[in-house]
Amino acid sequence: MALSFEENETLTRVGRGTPGGEMLRRYWQPIALSRELKNRPLKRRLLGEDLVLFRDDRGRPGLLTLRCAHRGTSLAFGHVEDGGLRCCYHGWLYDVEGKVLEQPGEPADSSYKGRVRQPAYKVQELAGIVFAYLGPDPAPLLPRYDVLVREDGVRALNARIVHCNFLQMVENSVDQHHFKWLHRTPKTRLWRDEKLTSEAKEWGILDTFTRRVGDDYYRTISLFLMPNMNKVGYHLPEDHPAAFAATHEGYEALRWRVAIDDTSTMHFTLYFGPLVDGKPPRRMPADQSEQGLLDSVPGKYRWDEETGWIARGDQDRCAQESQGPIFDRTSEHLGVSDEGVILLRRMLKQSIDAVRSGQDPIGIIRDPEKNNLRLVPGEYKLEGAELAHAAV
Ligand code: FES
Ligand SMILES: [Fe+2]
Repeated sequence: MALSFEENETLTRVGRGTPGGEMLRRYWQPIALSRELKNRPLKRRLLGEDLVLFRDDRGRPGLLTLRCAHRGTSLAFGHVEDGGLRCCYHGWLYDVEGKVLEQPGEPADSSYKGRVRQPAYKVQELAGIVFAYLGPDPAPLLPRYDVLVREDGVRALNARIVHCNFLQMVENSVDQHHFKWLHRTPKTRLWRDEKLTSEAKEWGILDTFTRRVGDDYYRTISLFLMPNMNKVGYHLPEDHPAAFAATHEGYEALRWRVAIDDTSTMHFTLYFGPLVDGKPPRRMPADQSEQGLLDSVPGKYRWDEETGWIARGDQDRCAQESQGPIFDRTSEHLGVSDEGVILLRRMLKQSIDAVRSGQDPIGIIRDPEKNNLRLVPGEYKLEGAELAHAAV
């Protein structure tokens, strides 16, 4: 079963007015790391829209469309001062909501500034990430997933651009079978695949992947959160045979694949490691937020001399980018191991249809009482009753 051209277009295009783009605009999306917002404005593109992000001199974040309402100069060259962002060309000054505070060349008694507005979007910061909302009012709640708000641990962040359509990256996050091959090590060759399931939930998809190594069974649980996040956990003992994950001990990772436009994507990762005896996990990844959003070169991947293949951190990017800027799914041949990918597309389609008919898409949170999602992914060895039901 392959997708038709129209289906592929519906799921992959992200611009304003496209079915997929309108659906994605209903969710808060990361646009930058808080540490990137210093005293200069930052140019960003999100869902095909060119924007400028800044923090005013009172510390408030603001997100405006890039081109100045006066005569279109980029506000990314503007100055952060006097309670807003001042265009470099003729000095018009905008606040974080796009209100014109000053129009230096106009008569002092003119009412013109009250009649012009720079389009602006909502932004909020949480856990060192700046989130933007490009959809219609009323905006839903910014999700407060456990790893974003827990105070009993440490967080680390990184962000990188990947040069392909966001859906290729999102499909990878529900594609459990690829672990064994794309991230192979001498140990993964010993795995025998057992049950692999993908189950629809109100927030997304619960993926479980059971494998046998010798007489032992192991299970990986990962979570896909609509429309473009996934959450994985690494709680492995040293001798765990899943060598790909054994270097990530004792922490969780929440990842977002955020469309810049149709052919490039920002990949944000937040790691959370709970403190044990007052100490963070031994192998907690380093925080790279000071470096901001890093770019990458498609076709160029780090090499691991030891394994004689592409390094672990670039393996997914290699697989995703080499599918093409926007993968043509009319030519694919899905198998039973693509169950997660099929379910994901169905849920995205349901969400697109919901938005078309004026409803919220899957996973939107509007009730503050329900804004406390704690979903625990991880890896563990099966014992007892679970073991009895493990084999296929
Ligand atoms: S173009 Fe921005 S103030 Fe004139
Ligand atoms: Fe992967």
